[in-house]
Amino acid sequence: MIFEQVATGGCQSYLIGCGDTCAAAVIDPEVRQLSRYEALAAQHGVRIRYVIDTHTHADHFSGSKQLSELLNVPVVAHSSSPSPYVTMHVDEGDVLKVGNIRLSVMHTPGHTRDAICLVASDRVFTGDTLLIGATGRTDLPTGDPEQLYDSLFDKLLKLDHRMLVYPAHIYKGHCCSTIEEELRSNPRLQKKKREEFVEMMRAHSPSMPEHLTEALRVNMSGGISVAQLLTEAAAEVPFMSMDEVKARVAAGANDLIVLDVREKDAFDAGHIPTARHLPRGQLELRVNEAFPDPTVRIVTCCEFGKISTLAAATLRRMGFTRAIALDGGMKAWKEQGFPVEGGATPQA
Ligand SMILES: [Fe+2]
Repeated sequence: MIFEQVATGGCQSYLIGCGDTCAAAVIDPEVRQLSRYEALAAQHGVRIRYVIDTHTHADHFSGSKQLSELLNVPVVAHSSSPSPYVTMHVDEGDVLKVGNIRLSVMHTPGHTRDAICLVASDRVFTGDTLLIGATGRTDLPTGDPEQLYDSLFDKLLKLDHRMLVYPAHIYKGHCCSTIEEELRSNPRLQKKKREEFVEMMRAHSPSMPEHLTEALRVNMSGGISVAQLLTEAAAEVPFMSMDEVKARVAAGANDLIVLDVREKDAFDAGHIPTARHLPRGQLELRVNEAFPDPTVRIVTCCEFGKISTLAAATLRRMGFTRAIALDGGMKAWKEQGFPVEGGATPQA
């Protein structure tokens, strides 16, 4: 069996493959690791045949849609998954053949309604149903502590106790566990009575995941995250360093337009000397009158260097093929003590 565990912070994803038939599956892909899965598959000489989500993740960004599009393979998830990009719905007892490896689907609602565990010969991918020393939380959308109790005590924990446990999250450094070890030492599993377990889970309300609403939006719709949007824009534009812009402005260069795309009050409070102002929200509407010559060299700037990247990418797509983004933003510019024009304390 070919087996790779890929961590993205605490989030775990897995590539499992059959060397005899050159087939593999990726479980819970993370969007920043797409090239890694492809590289691992190539390294092992296997082709990824399935992309599987164990549930609708609320705390990180699934790479399933993008990976399936890259590879032209199905996205597998439970039949109750709300994601429109799932192309192979599965139910309790279904088996996926990954070459000679059988992955059996166990529906284990509780953390989410669409949670599944995947059972291979000697190991089980537990998603967020069972974690090492913990369980998935039940207070996020479609979570249900009573269902989690049933999924754990009536299903998952009845597997062969020697089964290796590979969860979707690891918080304390162990790469895997066993059913036996979890039954023995997992504090949550010591509450063996239904009422006690449910009461414990209801009382357990950790802080909300950092990107909860954004992760649900992305994972339930197949849209992209803000970080992806910025990464894609950053790949489309070159950048100019703050030192370079400062030097050119100081030299009075007339072949470079500094374009500040922040809102008016931010611009008025202090901007790069000679900068022109056109807010990002009006860029497409006013760019023709502002810049009749599409061959001009425009360097965009904003507060943090993110919106300016989007603005430069937009300008390039509109035909301003020499548009460039400031590598940094006004916050960093001011922190460097670089010259600022306008505002309460104008500098030279
Ligand atoms: Fe989760």
